[in-house]
This record gives sequence, C-alpha cells and structure tokens, in this order.
Amino acid sequence: MDRIALVTGAAGGLGRAVAAGLAADGWRLIVVSRDAARLAAAFGDRHLQIEADCSTVAGVRQIFERAAAAGLLPTALAHCVGNIRLGSVHRMSEADFDDCLRANLVSAFHTLGGFIGALREARSPGSAVLVSSAAAQIGTPNHEAVAAAKAGVEGLVRGAAASHAAAGIRVNGVAPGIMDTPATSAILGSAAGRDAAARQYPLPGIGSAEELAQLMGWLLSEHAARVTGQVWAMDAGFTRIRPLVK
Ligand SMILES: NC(=O)c1ccc[n+]([C@@H]2O[C@H](COP(=O)([O-])OP(=O)(O)OC[C@H]3O[C@@H](n4cnc5c(N)ncnc54)[C@H](OP(=O)(O)O)[C@@H]3O)[C@@H](O)[C@H]2O)c1
Repeated sequence: MDRIALVTGAAGGLGRAVAAGLAADGWRLIVVSRDAARLAAAFGDRHLQIEADCSTVAGVRQIFERAAAAGLLPTALAHCVGNIRLGSVHRMSEADFDDCLRANLVSAFHTLGGFIGALREARSPGSAVLVSSAAAQIGTPNHEAVAAAKAGVEGLVRGAAASHAAAGIRVNGVAPGIMDTPATSAILGSAAGRDAAARQYPLPGIGSAEELAQLMGWLLSEHAARVTGQVWAMDAGFTRIRPLVK
C-alpha cells in the first residue's frame, strides 16, 4: 500500500528538501504552497500539488478535501511553514508580530488539527513533525517574536502527542539552528554575515535543509515508532553545550 505524506511550505527551502527525501524513501506526496506557480517551479508535474493557505481553517479544509477527492489520506505530515521576524520586543510592529505568529504557530495549529481530524475519522495511525527553532529553547537576542511563536509550537507538539498517542498518532518537533534557505538569505547573503552566523555555534558552520530533512524523514518513518512528544534539536550544540571560551 502507498505511504502518503503531506508536505506544507513545500516550495520553501526546507519543504523542498523534505519532499525530495520522502520521495526518495518511497512516499507518495501531497505538496502545498500558497502559490501554485512556486509548486510547479519546484516539482514540475510530480506529486499532488495544492495551492492553499494552511494558516487558515478554510485553507486547511481545502487541502484535505482535495486530497480526499484524489482518494488520498496522508498518514505523515511535515509542516515546513514559517518565517523569521527579528527585532527586539519594544521595536517590533504589530503587523510583523501577527505575521510571525500566523506563519509559525497558527499555521501549525490548524494544519495539525486538519491532519489529526482526518486520521481520527479514518481510524488510522499516523505521524506528524512540526518545525520549531533553537530560539525557542535558549534566549537569543532579537528573537523574541519567533521564540514566542516556536515555544507555542513546542507546547502544541506535547499536547497533541498526549491527546492522540492511544490512537497511534505520533507528534514530534525539530528545533534547528540557522540553515541556508531563502528565509535566511538576508543574513547569510554576505561573507561577513555568514562568518558571524557560523561562529555562534559550538560546532562551527551553517546547517543545511537536507540534514534536517533526514531527521524529519526518520521521525515520520516506522523506525521512530516509539518516539512521540519530543522536540529534537539539530543546532550544532547551540542550546546544550558551552565550549571553553579562548
Ligand atoms: N532557515 C532557518 O535558519 C531556520 C531556522 C530555524 C527554524 N526554521 C524554520 O524552518 C521552517 C522552514 O523554513 P525555511 O527556512 O525553509 O524558509 P522558507 O524557504 O522561507 O520556507 C517557508 C515557507 O513557509 C510558507 N509561509 C511563510 N509564511 C506563511 C504564512 N503566513 N502562511 C502560510 N505559509 C507561509 C512559504 O510558503 P509559500 O509562500 O510557498 O506558501 C515559504 O515557502 C520554518 O518553520 C522556519 O521557521 C528555519
């Protein structure tokens, strides 16, 4: 039987890497973006492509209706939607903060709700992975908005994992440090910015979407059948160790 995975934010840097990894592992894919042209540019005519805004209840409903109409029930969800809004709490505009919460937390809540609702209706087990950030786990200057949103995502992981464990539905999160994707092009676009970012990490360097995609693929697979309610850091030690300062 086909294993079907839903990838949101699929035209983004992490979304593309996750889609490539899952497809290589034999999953059949449903890929989502707010812009059909971005999906076509990323995937050609491969996969079931759905244009929808998963930060709204109506958008999420559309995704599951389109999937059902195609006879597809996703049993894996990789929610790769989010943005980075940097700035100190006293300087961030109301619009930027709202945008940060909507992209990172509201989208995760509604998409996970739609996914779990479809699984429960079909009495099917399944597995979801949401994306947090190292900034939710350790105070990082100017990351107040994204830290607040991603801390919400981590609470959502644990709450939903608890509610649905008995139904065989696993919910986990990943918490990366900086990765080289379109979301970070403003920071990593210059040699100076890239060097400064790389030096923040105990294991120096910049992460890649492909590395995180491997971890997410594992969490979604049967190899992680006993793992739920966890948020796995992939941050080169940023949130757990403090090397000797020379
Ligand atoms: N890159 C990093 O350094 C880093 C670090 C920590 C955590 N993360 C997290 O990793 C995840 C993937 O990010 P990325 O680096 O791959 O960024 P990305 O390339 O910008 O992709 C993110 C995607 O999210 C979608 N999106 C953005 N705002 C949205 C909104 N309000 N409603 C619905 N969809 C929205 C966009 O999809 P469409 O425009 O195609 O709809 C976009 O392609 C995010 O959750 C991000 O917070 C990234």
